[in-house]
Amino acid sequence: MARPKVYVTRKIPSPGLEIIGEYCDYELWPDVEYPPPRSVLIEKLRDKDGLLCLLTDRIDAEVMDAAPNLKVISTYSVGYDHIDIEAATKRGIYVCYTPGVLTNATADFTWALMLAAARRVCEADRYVRSGRWDKPWNPFMLLGVDVYGKTLGIIGLGRIGRAVAERARGFNMKVIYYDLYRLSPSEEAKLGVEYRSLEDVLRSADFVSIHVPLSKETYHLIGERELRLMKPSAILVNTSRGPVVDEKALYKALKEGWIRAAGIDVWEQEPTPKDNPLLTLDNIVVAPHIASASEEARSSMAEMAARNLVAVLKGEMPPALANPDVLKIRPLSKVKV
Ligand code: GLV
Repeated sequence: MARPKVYVTRKIPSPGLEIIGEYCDYELWPDVEYPPPRSVLIEKLRDKDGLLCLLTDRIDAEVMDAAPNLKVISTYSVGYDHIDIEAATKRGIYVCYTPGVLTNATADFTWALMLAAARRVCEADRYVRSGRWDKPWNPFMLLGVDVYGKTLGIIGLGRIGRAVAERARGFNMKVIYYDLYRLSPSEEAKLGVEYRSLEDVLRSADFVSIHVPLSKETYHLIGERELRLMKPSAILVNTSRGPVVDEKALYKALKEGWIRAAGIDVWEQEPTPKDNPLLTLDNIVVAPHIASASEEARSSMAEMAARNLVAVLKGEMPPALANPDVLKIRPLSKVKV
């Protein structure tokens, strides 16, 4: 029996490739640092049944149309804004993703940014390393603000937003949230969160943390108007997707003191250009999109992405399907290779 043919756009941690290799013949793009150029991706997909991709690969209708046998796109990420879901569904292509397994890693990192921005950890590091620490201890050196006991505003209370809220208990914080969907009163009470309008969260919170997926609706959700609503003492953290925040507006807000500081892991363009004006500011803690980058999370993501891919190719329900409507277009019984 012929084995399914799969293209993998980058080496992923163990046990991802081992799981794929048990059931499929896979071809792996050899460069570990750069994704395959689009022309290569399109060429490689001509005869493939499955694709395992990363968030650095834009998978649109053109790519899908070049792949007449393609049945499944499995992304090694929880976000799937790089994949045209509607186009995939129409073509009967299953799209799978990796929710859950990176929730804790991402929530931990959100807290790392929050604490680092509040207590100026990165500024302090630069201060010591650059040799500027040449005077004795003084009461005003690198003053930050408390996190403990403050109000945390969460925008987007999905899996990661909730995990961030859970951690706030240890810091005795009041947690308010905005989401399109409101939790039931008992769920709110259990998690210790209060529902507010977006404006109210922005106006009231000392820390605002963003956890929405990127979509047409959330593009520049945080722009000039929203940043101006925040307290001058507030800190903004973004570990979701860069384009949710208007970076030009954020620059003005940080430079002109509309808000105190920010912690930014995700960017409008990645890698962010070296001359991004945000990088000239001291009151921003920056990272290169690494919120899920723990060994544990990355290995679990690889396993889940591989299991998703193989399940669909076996005609079985995958652990995490992003486009359940596809079941009506091409039932699993018609997928099996
Ligand atoms: C990372 O940003 C992911 O979507 O998994």
